[in-house]
Amino acid sequence: MDDERIVSARLMMEDRTAEYSLRPRYLSEYIGQERVKENLKVYIEAAKMRREALDHVLLYGPPGLGKTTLSAVIANELGVNMRVTSGPAIERPGDLAAILSNLQEGDVLFIDEIHRLSRAVEEVLYPAMEDFALDIMIGKGPSARSIRLDLPKFTLIGATTRAGLLSAPLRDRFGVVSRLEYYGIDELAFIVERSADILGVRMIGAAAREIAMRSRGTPRIANRLLKRVRDFAQVEGDGIITAELAREALERMQVDPKGLDQIDHKMLRAMIEHFGGGPVGLDTIAATIGEESQTIEDVYEPYLMQIGFLQRTPRGRVVTAAAYRHLGLPVPRGRAKAGEEEGPLLF
Ligand code: ADE
Repeated sequence: MDDERIVSARLMMEDRTAEYSLRPRYLSEYIGQERVKENLKVYIEAAKMRREALDHVLLYGPPGLGKTTLSAVIANELGVNMRVTSGPAIERPGDLAAILSNLQEGDVLFIDEIHRLSRAVEEVLYPAMEDFALDIMIGKGPSARSIRLDLPKFTLIGATTRAGLLSAPLRDRFGVVSRLEYYGIDELAFIVERSADILGVRMIGAAAREIAMRSRGTPRIANRLLKRVRDFAQVEGDGIITAELAREALERMQVDPKGLDQIDHKMLRAMIEHFGGGPVGLDTIAATIGEESQTIEDVYEPYLMQIGFLQRTPRGRVVTAAAYRHLGLPVPRGRAKAGEEEGPLLF
């Protein structure tokens, strides 16, 4: 029994190593985001030629698209270390001062959810980004004075799902601002195939596509679904992932052919059943389905809007004709004007 537990713990550690290795380490291994990658390649090369730190980079876009991964790739390509932290983790100015003064020349400092930094912490960040300096107040009252400490030249990589929430002075201090986009099916299928290779799972036919189609344009979801489908293949099949097995497993996980899960369905149906498909305000939707407005806005809505199932209007959110059809419901008359009903389609 104990033996089994030790073995199982070791397997879990191996699992984690495997998960870690799913992440690409070089730009050449990183699939998708072609335009962002091409430009970054130039900036990285130029910084290396000049033997300077890369200019500060802001990465923004929906969650799960690889902002942390891309940041680690950048650090790796630059041949420097990356220090990882996040907006909410840096509570006081002193916390940031400690992190900054421990950096080495050229290092990457990655701050996730950078829009959540407090004003006081941001104030420390400005001179650090602009002049690589730390202004420290000594003493209190009339005798207080500030001294300036030099910091190593570093690259700040900020990541956020909400670039609009960044203060203007902070946003202006990034030399490179890149938006990550949802991935296309072909790119996701590539990522799934690459991950299956690394995990040592055999996948045949259109299995990778089957998973890719239901991954909401998001590699993190694609990799998670791959691991769960692998479980089904191992326990209920012969370990090989076929398209048929993938489809069945995904149906059982209640992930529909467009990648919508139970919460998406619940939200769309609530909007249709209680509010005639909208327009309805975000907070009203949130209260109706018992989710946080913020989560809906950051996580659920962007994809539903991307595939043209939801529209934002000045009067609130509206369910589109395409969504009615996807749910197998009759499209109410006058729901959308001709030519408008499909919205922008993703793939
Ligand atoms: N794993 C997660 N995201 C990836 C990407 N963009 N390219 C390759 N592998 C990935």
